Amino acid sequence: MLNLDQAIAPLPSKKVVMSLTPHLSKKSSHSQKGFEELSGRVAWITGASRGIGQAIALELAGLGVSIALGSRNETLLCAVARQAAAFGVSVFSKSCNVTDEDSIEDFVRQAESSLGPIDILVNSAGIYRTEPVSRHSLSVWREIIETNLTGPLLTTKAVVDGMIEREWGRLVNISSVSGKVGEKWASAYCSSKFGLIGFTQSLALEVAKYGITVNAVCPGWVDTEMASSQLTDEAWCSLNNIPQAESIDIHRLSIPQERFIEPQEVASLVAYLCSTSARSITGQSINICGGLILH
Ligand SMILES: NC(=O)c1ccc[n+]([C@@H]2O[C@H](COP(=O)([O-])OP(=O)(O)OC[C@H]3O[C@@H](n4cnc5c(N)ncnc54)[C@H](OP(=O)(O)O)[C@@H]3O)[C@@H](O)[C@H]2O)c1
Repeated sequence: MLNLDQAIAPLPSKKVVMSLTPHLSKKSSHSQKGFEELSGRVAWITGASRGIGQAIALELAGLGVSIALGSRNETLLCAVARQAAAFGVSVFSKSCNVTDEDSIEDFVRQAESSLGPIDILVNSAGIYRTEPVSRHSLSVWREIIETNLTGPLLTTKAVVDGMIEREWGRLVNISSVSGKVGEKWASAYCSSKFGLIGFTQSLALEVAKYGITVNAVCPGWVDTEMASSQLTDEAWCSLNNIPQAESIDIHRLSIPQERFIEPQEVASLVAYLCSTSARSITGQSINICGGLILH
């Protein structure tokens, strides 16, 4: 993802510290125009316990969408559920592992009996691991592919027939710029994210005539736990031959806008893709990366 040959030599004196707490606004950043149809819809967000998934859940709640929150950590989910409920919408939250079909079926059955049929699915659950190909662990490869690629297949299977019947649906898959450009030491992650774009395109064509749109969102570096752990990981810095203490600054400066993206910015794009205004956008993979990649 990053061209380290272009790492900028003189570092700014001001140290940039990535916060681990996403900056979440209390209100949706969207005015209601074009978003009216979302109010009363039901959205399921995977990986909603923190980071980008949390921001998406709160953005949609701010637009009047009923929210089903899933991830493995029930304690964190409860905290997000309380934040979402503060918008006055109905909220369901329950532990759900996207690699486990039974867990997904159970989640969808209970979520739909509590909130009604799921109209919007945002696949945000994801994991990242650093592994050089020559010594890649097969179990890590499988874990990444199962979470980042098979997970969205299983969650989609659980809701797409209902969307077809009701002739309305929004599916948004959180891929990555690493789904468009190879990233060193992350072959499994890149393969999963490239695969997710292929999955998005195929599904978009399958369901296009039923009023359902399917899109991928491809973020660059977003200020979340995933990015900060990667940027400060000793093994990753060592493989990239960069001093651990300077990694955050070096990578921030490798972004043309020289800043990390806020989870809220990604959430805003996802909300737009769910809106009526975006009904003709389908099968696309849209970058939100501060110019890090250009295609
Ligand atoms: N941050 C970035 O710079 C960046 C850039 C490009 C793309 N992305 C993508 O954006 C998505 C969100 O990333 P993030 O930065 O918000 O990461 P994060 O802060 O690490 O959050 C990941 C989320 O995924 C959930 N999750 C992981 N494995 C799961 C499983 N098996 N079943 C259900 N939930 C699972 C985690 O919850 P539990 O641990 O509670 O299960 C957590 O809620 C990911 O798909 C990631 O690949 C991130």
